[in-house]
Amino acid sequence: MESTRDRLINLLAENEDNFISGQALSESLNISRNAVWKHMKDLEKDGYEIEAKPRKGYRIKENPEKLSSNTIKWGLDSKWIAKTVLHKQTVESTQTIAHQAARENAPHGTIVVADEQTNGKGRMNRTWHSSKDKGIWLSIILRPEIPPNHATQLTLLTATVLADVLNTFENVEPLIKWPNDILLNRKKTAGILTEMQAEQDRIQYILIGIGLNVNQSISDLSEDIQHKATSLRIETKKEWSVKKIIQQLLTTFETAYDGYMDEGFGPVKRKWEHYGFKIGENIKINTFNDNWEAKFLGISEEGALVTESRDGKPVTLYSAEINWF
Ligand code: BTN
Repeated sequence: MESTRDRLINLLAENEDNFISGQALSESLNISRNAVWKHMKDLEKDGYEIEAKPRKGYRIKENPEKLSSNTIKWGLDSKWIAKTVLHKQTVESTQTIAHQAARENAPHGTIVVADEQTNGKGRMNRTWHSSKDKGIWLSIILRPEIPPNHATQLTLLTATVLADVLNTFENVEPLIKWPNDILLNRKKTAGILTEMQAEQDRIQYILIGIGLNVNQSISDLSEDIQHKATSLRIETKKEWSVKKIIQQLLTTFETAYDGYMDEGFGPVKRKWEHYGFKIGENIKINTFNDNWEAKFLGISEEGALVTESRDGKPVTLYSAEINWF
């Protein structure tokens, strides 16, 4: 059930550029005008900037920077993504909450976002450092009608979305390190963790977990990762609104996802390769019983690594360890 406060914020959001009278609000919400006024005072305490004009009514001029389901949805122009936003201050991992929500039938496009994670999960069982208010710690619940073996394509798509978002910042040149690390100046600034619940030939849900370092300074990064991690703030020497980047990320994701559903993986693959770190260069490859150097050509439909063999033919590698630096 939506609270009166949420309904009030929604009414104000729908009338973003106009004033809405105390009378109209009191009628729509079925509360007294005095109660409307009290709610407005509470919103102000939470950082909303309210403009109140006699005979005209109320309007929200500015919503707060603090993350909440309302502030994320405010001004977010989306068709299906983030219609349900589950915001938590502290969680172990947004993936855990998202699994729970998905099992309880949370709709396609639901997002789980936290100010802080105490046990953020990275790929290969690694830990993902997710300090309070410094970055984007977010999971998207998707219910795509694609075969389970195409799920990787959504991870690659997400990497291009992150690169596109970072690319809009001045003097920031993101690259994607295969399969899905986002680098700025050769250091990792974002990662993606995809988890899936599927039957033989049908996906029940996919969770796309996104971690993006935004406002950490070097000393905020733990010592063990300082040499290989960075943040948008470190790279641009400015602080950014986490909330606005979340909104930008969500709308960019929605457009890319809809494009993928319409046009397939081709355009995603091309975009990925445009951002691909070391594409066209030689990379060092180690497998179980061999190691060699080969030119990195691109990615396959399955998201595997395509390299050039000694006789110039493309070779697809499904599992290999790459020495990137
Ligand atoms: C990686 O590069 O290893 C992937 C990192 C993914 C981190 C994000 S933060 C939001 C979501 N919740 C988690 O616990 N992990 C992902």
